[in-house]
Amino acid sequence: MALISVLLGGVAGLLGLFIVYFSWNFNYWHKRGVPSANPFSLFGDRGGGLPFGKSFWSLLDPVYKKYKGKHAFVGTFQARRPVLVALDPDLIKTILTKEYSHFQGRGQAFDEENDPLSAHLFNLEGPRWKALRSKLSPVFTSGKLKVMFPLMTDVGQKLDARLRVLAAEKGTDGEVELKDLLVRYSTDIIASVAFGVTCDSLSGEANEFHTASREVFSANLLFIIRLFLSSIHPALVKLLPFTSLFNKASTFFLSLMKETVEFREKNKVDRNDLVKLMMQLREADSREAGTANHIGFNENLMAAQAFVFFAAGLENNANGVGFALHELSVNPELQQRAAAEVRACSARHGGLTYEAVQEMELVERILREVLRKYCPVGTLTREPTTAFQLPNSELVIDKSVWVWIPVWQLAHDPDFFPDPERFDPDRFTDQAREQRHPYAYLPFGEGPRFCVAERFAILEMKLCLAGLLDKFAFSVGRKTDLKLEFVPTAFSPTPKKGFWLKVDERP
Ligand code: HEM
Repeated sequence: MALISVLLGGVAGLLGLFIVYFSWNFNYWHKRGVPSANPFSLFGDRGGGLPFGKSFWSLLDPVYKKYKGKHAFVGTFQARRPVLVALDPDLIKTILTKEYSHFQGRGQAFDEENDPLSAHLFNLEGPRWKALRSKLSPVFTSGKLKVMFPLMTDVGQKLDARLRVLAAEKGTDGEVELKDLLVRYSTDIIASVAFGVTCDSLSGEANEFHTASREVFSANLLFIIRLFLSSIHPALVKLLPFTSLFNKASTFFLSLMKETVEFREKNKVDRNDLVKLMMQLREADSREAGTANHIGFNENLMAAQAFVFFAAGLENNANGVGFALHELSVNPELQQRAAAEVRACSARHGGLTYEAVQEMELVERILREVLRKYCPVGTLTREPTTAFQLPNSELVIDKSVWVWIPVWQLAHDPDFFPDPERFDPDRFTDQAREQRHPYAYLPFGEGPRFCVAERFAILEMKLCLAGLLDKFAFSVGRKTDLKLEFVPTAFSPTPKKGFWLKVDERP
């Protein structure tokens, strides 16, 4: 009995200590005179970043609605960590671009030694990030993308063939679930371009690439738990039973890159893809040994970069094209105009060439509007590198504070995008863009850390959408989810019931 009492007392004591430690910071903003909503609800006004029935991208909704227009910034908390939410686009510009040197990193906890795949451009910081970014940026210039383009069109042809088969299957009434197909298409593109592998997920057969990608994208909840724990204390991440979020996939990607590089060196293979470009970078890097630019670009670091390309590109591309097809099915007149543009540009350039795709102005505006309405990255994060005094304010923030930019909320703010739930590609004509604050629309981020592959991502989505509109007409079917419910635990807006649409040959 006495032992139980001691144990219970110990547990209560530990719990008490944890609560004190957890809530210790909760007067952080109050002490500094920064508006913030009731942190003593334990998880603050955002549900603490945990998905208690709320979607991840909408967690800042209450904060944004309450304070926008009244304050340039406000305080909130991620678990016990103070978070400054920048609300005013001018302040956002200061943080992301003008005063970027004070906000170089994202403050992502990662462990290169035990999880080599985590040492990628998105996570790295400081001089290592800078050197790697300057080496990788030229990989995505238009010249390089043009050279890679044929690898993408090869996969596009397989997509056409597979969709034709699925639409003709008996008993389906021509209705096809497109999310799975688009994920397979994106897997095959990124496997080919970033890992130099032809994996043919589109055939519907199981393959290691597709399995690894599913492991990565089912780790959403683990990702969110990790983010939550790292904001209590970064050391907690290392205590977790998983060093990497996805062990099997991690081993797969690391050995795949090693084998591919070895095979190419041995057999003198020359293929116009990112592996080739990264092998060239590795060589150049080895010549820079002893200089500040040297980063030790070995196969693990190459695999980590290819992996982030894979993780960043896959679902974003599949969802981007899927949401576009959904919107175009609901709006047949817009679809007709987009298909006419695709055919006119293809006719001018003798097919769906790189130049033809570049010229498709309406198709691009449709995708830019998709990235507004269904913005995949709802919040941008920065961590101050040094203490920084916010403009027009007494407030000095230091490394203990995270800075968040409410990308989703800006993209749905009626002051910037009137009637935000309406799908309207005309929001992205040159004239409309000029009239809006450029920092109100940030699907690819901004400043020196903006998405390194924006051009690649837009090209990949445009090519896929244009190829489909050229051959097929899409319409609402019996299984189409017109309300378009999202998976609540997903990191980005993801359709709960997939993208069911009726598919016919386009006359
Ligand atoms: C629709 C598709 C995509 C969207 C919406 C998107 C969005 C973003 C956003 C918001 C960021 C953070 C920017 C910031 O903090 O300012 C980012 C960073 C990044 N993205 Fe993308 N991305 C997409 C596709 C891709 C693709 C296809 C790749 C690779 C092939 C890629 C590679 C990266 C990398 C490596 C970073 C980190 C850059 C750095 O920190 O230097 N993204 N992306």
